Formats: sequence, C-alpha cells, structure tokens
Amino acid sequence: MKKLFVLLGLAFIMGSFTLKQVPPEIPADVNALLSKHGCIACHNMTQRLVGPSWQNIAGKKYSAKKISALVKKPEPGNWPGYVPMLAQPNVPKAELNKISEWLAGLK
Ligand code: HEC
Repeated sequence: MKKLFVLLGLAFIMGSFTLKQVPPEIPADVNALLSKHGCIACHNMTQRLVGPSWQNIAGKKYSAKKISALVKKPEPGNWPGYVPMLAQPNVPKAELNKISEWLAGLK
C-alpha cells in the first residue's frame, strides 16, 4: 500500500511538471555569468527579447564549441528578423565555455 502511494506521488509530481511546462532553471553560476556579461539584457529562457530565447537557441543543437565561436563572432544570417547581435569578444574563455556548455545541454 505504501508503495502505491509513493508511485502515485511520483506520477503526480511528474504530471504536474509536464502539464505546467515549467521552464528549465538556469543554474546559479551560469546565471551569474549571464548577468555579469549583459547577456540577459537581450536573452531570456522562454521569450524573444532583442535576441532569441535560450530555448530557441538550444533548438539549433549547436555544439558548445560552435556556441562559443558564435558569441565571439555572431552570424546574424542564422536569425532572420532579428537585429544582428553585437560580438562579445571579451568574455573570458573559461566563463564563455561554461555558458556554452550549459546552452549546448539545454533542452
Ligand atoms: C544587445 C543584445 C544582445 C546581447 C547583449 C547578447 N546577445 Fe546574443 N543575440 C542577440 C541577437 C539579436 C541574436 C540573434 C541575431 C544574431 O545572432 O546576430 C543573438 C544570438 C545569440 C546566439 C545564437 C547565435 C547563432 O548564430 O545562432 C547565442 C548563442 C547568443 N546570442 C548568446 C549570447 C551570450 C552568451 C551573450 C552574453 C555574453 C549574448 N548573447 C549577449 C542579441 C544579444
């Protein structure tokens, strides 16, 4: 009986996640970098701002390496209908890697 309640509880939790479509949380360390480098002025998780949402970008299925390259040298042709992104060449490599790996793994 106890097992059944646990199973029901799990099913409920999983169900409420898919029903509400809770956007994935940005890990605190990544979020700090996105703030520090001003990315959040133009990007957020689910909505188009000046730039496409993180989820939209993740949909392109880039590798982390490709993302880092695009941040340093954007290719506006990838996003018709958007203003071109300003290149961000000054993000330190380790910090950019962290952002890119997160984006590459984002669903
Ligand atoms: C001034 C606004 C602005 C800022 C600041 C900004 N972006 Fe962007 N970003 C855009 C726009 C607009 C696009 C779509 C057009 C383009 O790629 O040129 C974009 C596209 C992207 C893409 C997709 C590139 C592609 O070719 O598919 C990535 C990845 C990205 N931004 C990451 C970042 C990161 C990381 C930062 C912070 C270091 C950042 N952006 C800061 C506006 C911005």
